[in-house]
Amino acid sequence: QRPVLRLLSCPGTVAEDLRRDEQPSGSVETGFEDKIPKKRFSEMQNERREQAQRTVLIHCPEKISEKKFLKYLSQHGPINNHFFYESFSLYAVVEFCQKESVRSLQNETHAPSKGMEVAIPFRSRFFNLKLKNQTSERSCVQMSNQLPPSSKKLFEVLRDAESVDDQLNTLLKEFQLTEENTKLRYLTCSLIEDIAAAYFPDCVVRPFGSSVNTFGKLGCDLDMFLDLSETRNLSTNKTSGNFLMEFQVKNVPSERIATQKILSVIGECLDNFSPGCVGVQKILNARCPLVRFSHQASGFQCDLTTNNRIALTSSELLYIYGALDSRVRALVFTVRYWARAHSLTSSIPGAWITNFSLTMMVIFFLQTRSPPILPTLDSLQTLADAEDKCIIEGNNCTFVRDLNRIKPSENTETLELLLKEFFEYFGNFAFNKNSINIRQGREQNKPDSSPLYIQNPFETSLNISKNVSQSQLQKFVDLAQESTWILQQEDLGGPSMSGNQPWGLVALLLPSGANRKSLGKKKSRKPANEKVKVLLESIKSNRTENFTNTNGK
Ligand code: GTP
Ligand code: MG
Repeated sequence: QRPVLRLLSCPGTVAEDLRRDEQPSGSVETGFEDKIPKKRFSEMQNERREQAQRTVLIHCPEKISEKKFLKYLSQHGPINNHFFYESFSLYAVVEFCQKESVRSLQNETHAPSKGMEVAIPFRSRFFNLKLKNQTSERSCVQMSNQLPPSSKKLFEVLRDAESVDDQLNTLLKEFQLTEENTKLRYLTCSLIEDIAAAYFPDCVVRPFGSSVNTFGKLGCDLDMFLDLSETRNLSTNKTSGNFLMEFQVKNVPSERIATQKILSVIGECLDNFSPGCVGVQKILNARCPLVRFSHQASGFQCDLTTNNRIALTSSELLYIYGALDSRVRALVFTVRYWARAHSLTSSIPGAWITNFSLTMMVIFFLQTRSPPILPTLDSLQTLADAEDKCIIEGNNCTFVRDLNRIKPSENTETLELLLKEFFEYFGNFAFNKNSINIRQGREQNKPDSSPLYIQNPFETSLNISKNVSQSQLQKFVDLAQESTWILQQEDLGGPSMSGNQPWGLVALLLPSGANRKSLGKKKSRKPANEKVKVLLESIKSNRTENFTNTNGK
């Protein structure tokens, strides 16, 4: 069971000031412009990692005076920012200005007094603060709930929006990761890095996936990549005179076995020594071996992988796409939420479409607009310079990393139009013949008979949606067609005409069929002959359902 995570922000704190400073000057404040990053991905990751290394996580007593708490910690050095959150109990995340302060705090910290159980000694950056005098501390931390809204609350804010565009932007604003949540994600990776560093002192644990690719929503899992490239590179290049020195190492027959061995050991360490890591599962026989665990204090479900550099590169590519145009994230969040509301996606692996595949579909769709809203991966590769050159395991992962070198789109289509066209496009897509390919931004012939074929952008012979069955794809197509129809009805009405009726995005999120009752004038969403055509085509192509979870990770 996942704990409820409530982030409590501290109005008037440095963190708050920093957030305000991040607003681009002159922009109209709607709350989401500031979330569009303009930094290079690597720059952003390095900055945040460095911040996280100066940060500690403290389990606090229920009643605490914020002022006294900060004064007490400031003995170790100035504090850059801090916030409180609740995850079953109260926690504080405190970022010092200097790393030395963390060491000073650790030096002053005691091992827990012995009770019935024996503590495994480990000096982490996760502390437990106790009050010496249990009596009269008053809680002064201001609580501000940062959980994603319930569907009920969401429907209320969406109903009160002014337009469909406003609805999509509102959904993004309500669900996107907050600054505090992002900090907590980097801090969690940093705490895990401390454990892994016991074996591999030069390792880096990097978040990837939706935590960093600009498409993460509150509550999404935390994908981590144990990067050992520094350790691996130690044995190359250094020659002097006639000699070449190499490390003595253990050898194993394959890269996969090396990965399994490393993850197995780190999994054991997490399970045995890492405070707060529970439910550790080693899933070493998956296509991409991983260790899954819950980080109790942050409430994150974590997946730790290694030797998975391509996934990190995919995250970087998505980050660039998410940052290029403010419509991208609003559309991706909406399509993902819509898919979840209709059970097209699931947290359990299976024959359903994944969020990653949906994101690729939105990117592909935006590449096909006229003029295009997003550039193709091939054109991002053309813009790359020598520094961007990147080959991973023989795959060309070169693309431009500097966002400022990509020309903004001249397309001015509204989100409402794009959403409608997205559903229409995929409601009529020839999935039986064609594949989706963000490298070229054009439909291609499918190389095999998988119901849904989305080319992996970097390992181009792979299909990222190989797991999707024909029936799940059909469900997606049916819902896309129904959604097109609902939005066409909207053209006749809109918010002003709808009275108390659900309209726009709300109508799209209602269970299938419910709309026809409340909105419908037409009987059929799509001409019956077209539906029959789709059905016949799918039978003709004689596809078998594929329930293997390849996920491609
Ligand atoms: P959430 O559903 O919000 O967690 O989205 P996510 O993008 O984080 O997806 P997930 O946790 O399933 O996967 C994490 C990352 O692994 C993705 O962002 C991709 O970079 C990569 N990934 C996931 N699935 C695939 C796949 O099928 N093929 C490839 N090549 N990479 C994948
Ligand atoms: Mg994820």
